[in-house]
Amino acid sequence: MKEHDSATGPGTESLLDVLALRADTPGSEKVVHFNNAGCGLLAKPVLKTMLDHLNLEAGIGGYEAAAAQADEVAGFYREIAALINARPRNIAFAASATHAYSTALSSIRFEPGDVVLTTRNDFISNQIAFLSLRKRFGVEVVHAPDAPEGGVDVDAMAALMRARRPKLVAATHIPTNSGLVQPVAGIGRHCRELELLYLVDACQSVGQYPVDVEEIGADLLTSTCRKFLRGPRGSGFLFVSDRFLEAGHEPLFIDMHGARWNAPGEYEAAASAARFEEWEFPYAAVLGCAAAAKYAREVGLEAISRRTPALAARLREGLGDLSGVQVLDRGPELGALVTFSIKGWEAVPFKEAMDARRINSALSYREFAQFDFGDKDVHWCLRLSPHYYNTEREVDDVVAAVAELAG
Ligand SMILES: Cc1ncc(COP(=O)(O)O)c(C=O)c1O
Repeated sequence: MKEHDSATGPGTESLLDVLALRADTPGSEKVVHFNNAGCGLLAKPVLKTMLDHLNLEAGIGGYEAAAAQADEVAGFYREIAALINARPRNIAFAASATHAYSTALSSIRFEPGDVVLTTRNDFISNQIAFLSLRKRFGVEVVHAPDAPEGGVDVDAMAALMRARRPKLVAATHIPTNSGLVQPVAGIGRHCRELELLYLVDACQSVGQYPVDVEEIGADLLTSTCRKFLRGPRGSGFLFVSDRFLEAGHEPLFIDMHGARWNAPGEYEAAASAARFEEWEFPYAAVLGCAAAAKYAREVGLEAISRRTPALAARLREGLGDLSGVQVLDRGPELGALVTFSIKGWEAVPFKEAMDARRINSALSYREFAQFDFGDKDVHWCLRLSPHYYNTEREVDDVVAAVAELAG
């Protein structure tokens, strides 16, 4: 056991030098940050990278700073590719996961009667996008049923793939509204076998688990950089497979960066995933993402993926023992998002009571998860999402705070 174990308590901290990681995380001294599913705390090297670039922009000009840092900017593609087992040419920068997702959807030529097959736990904005496709193109949105233990029933989903031949299969790896981890690789195996387009939302899993686009079998995969990857706000990415690029898919609106205007009546889309990007980049954020991806790989995704869900499991267990508190997470595999309801409180005052104790959390409402919260018959819940730099002691303090409020 390492020296710091006494400060963090027994558990998985021996996998990582938690005290050193906390020393690298200025925010960890100020708050108990259990809102990593919202936005992770920046590590010092990430912050420094961005501040240095902003200073360079102020000093020599924005275009000139980007040119001076061209190799570091290319590092964004290298780092994200290394993080998800892809090649740099298959990565596009995006301002958000949602922007990456809608750009990807816009590149699929939907026609009336096409089927989009998804799950009951896919992210709220993705569900709204599917409904918008239904409104505009007459696409049918089909939700695969859940298994009795929670999470999508992969066999039932595969049967729907065979019966309905969907134009698109879409799955969210870890939804925003519970601790569920969906079996995206299991779904992907069927998509590959049946040659169906497969879009994965990995927003909550990138930075929390090793994510491997080959193993998942994704044609397209989206993520933000700000959550468990601990990158800056306003940044994300889209992975686009060679299969998808070679099939000639391109976004509905493609700009002067994504395409060359060859002749007055003609353009040619970029060969790489750059066709999904726009010309303007927030370069400080792009460099911050590269630094965050590098940092996560140096910490080690295997160790992160053991420690982070283990902290969440400890939290779930502690909360589960409290009377008046109902832990809502269900599924064969649970990650670092812990959700619960509490008797006798309204949503906002309860979160404010947590804020007053310097415990960062997030509220989820019924409209975030119509199916899941409908099944659980809850109207809101509080979400707590620790990360590897949090400590066992913080987990226990949070349980004690909730116990006090529940009482
Ligand atoms: C599962 C999931 N997908 C997508 C998103 C949207 O990400 P962004 O806000 O970067 O568009 C979120 C954000 O909470 C999410 O949890």
